[in-house]
Amino acid sequence: MKGVLLAGGTGSRLYPITHTGPKQLVPIANKPVLDYAIEDFIDAGITDIGVILGNKGREAIQQHLGDGSDYGVDITYIIQGDPLGLAHAVGCAKEFVGDESFVVYLGDDLMREGIEEMVADFDPEEYAAGIGLQEVDEPSRYGVVGRNDDDDIVELAEKPDDPPSNLALIGIYVFTPEIFDQIEALEPSWRGELEITDAIQGLLDDDRRVQSHVVHGWWKDTGKPSDVLHANRLVLDAIDRNLAGTVENKESVIGRVELHEGAVIENGAVVRGPVSIGADTRIGSGSYIGPYTSIGENSEIDNAHIEASVTMGDNEITADRTIVDSLIGRQAAITSSEDKQPTGDRMVIGRNSTLEL
Ligand code: DAU
Repeated sequence: MKGVLLAGGTGSRLYPITHTGPKQLVPIANKPVLDYAIEDFIDAGITDIGVILGNKGREAIQQHLGDGSDYGVDITYIIQGDPLGLAHAVGCAKEFVGDESFVVYLGDDLMREGIEEMVADFDPEEYAAGIGLQEVDEPSRYGVVGRNDDDDIVELAEKPDDPPSNLALIGIYVFTPEIFDQIEALEPSWRGELEITDAIQGLLDDDRRVQSHVVHGWWKDTGKPSDVLHANRLVLDAIDRNLAGTVENKESVIGRVELHEGAVIENGAVVRGPVSIGADTRIGSGSYIGPYTSIGENSEIDNAHIEASVTMGDNEITADRTIVDSLIGRQAAITSSEDKQPTGDRMVIGRNSTLEL
């Protein structure tokens, strides 16, 4: 089976982070979101992967994944261009997938269980498509299904005001090539996109069956900054203590801390896991890094207290401040203005930035 990884879109809900890079490369515990999907494909035995690219961050994704050989997979890039919708993106893969069933994975989704079971369970003789589902608190934010008493899917709706259930599509799909006929017949939805949800509804309208697979382990769509922080917490919950870098005083590095190569935790700094610290980063003597934090690679941290946050890398954070629940983009600097007059916070803040002071 082939895999199709959707890595286009605009990432507008993650501005300003996505002004300069695609959301699929946002690091969660020092690994881009996209890499988790590639690993899930590999675990499910899928190594022939088509990656759908939009206009934004196209080169960055190609540079990151290369031809796939570093991961042991074969990558074919497919250009979608403008984000005309998930169904349009899947439609772009028609030639790549040929006449076999294939798996679609949304490139900004993360899930604990992986996709192995769902892929293995899919029965193309009985069903035209298979979808991953999970119960959610806010079904109106997602594609949602309605099921009958036998748990057969009878309807689908994309971000409905009045959801038929709280079972949301989690962004993992298995399709037979029948889906392409449905995609070709689609009209844009109320949000102006060709919706994959509508294409699957088309299969039901043609009396084809859709297999459902309810996922119980956690699943996260990393669309918004709060989702990125939440996904980071979930991933850090499962890391092991692994100190590949240098720790000057082991007693102040508590619990499950992952320290990548070339990173240094200086004497006097306190790191309380679960925490991930990227390669070549220096945690200076006056710093405290608290639980559920990922500090990106190649950064200088001094004096600051950082907790439940993600810093994306190449950062200088030296202000004597407490930073919590924050997502700090690549190359951003947070330094001290204490000895400058007049006193106050000095900022260079880009479009769509958020500060809660
Ligand atoms: O996360 C699950 C939800 O994903 C489902 O419940 C919805 O039914 C489904 O429509 C989708 O909704 P989102 O609004 O969250 O999709 P989003 O625009 O974030 O796009 C998901 C991924 O697909 C993301 O990695 C970007 C990529 N994409 C998106 C569009 C619109 C493309 O590659 N091309 C596109 O045209």
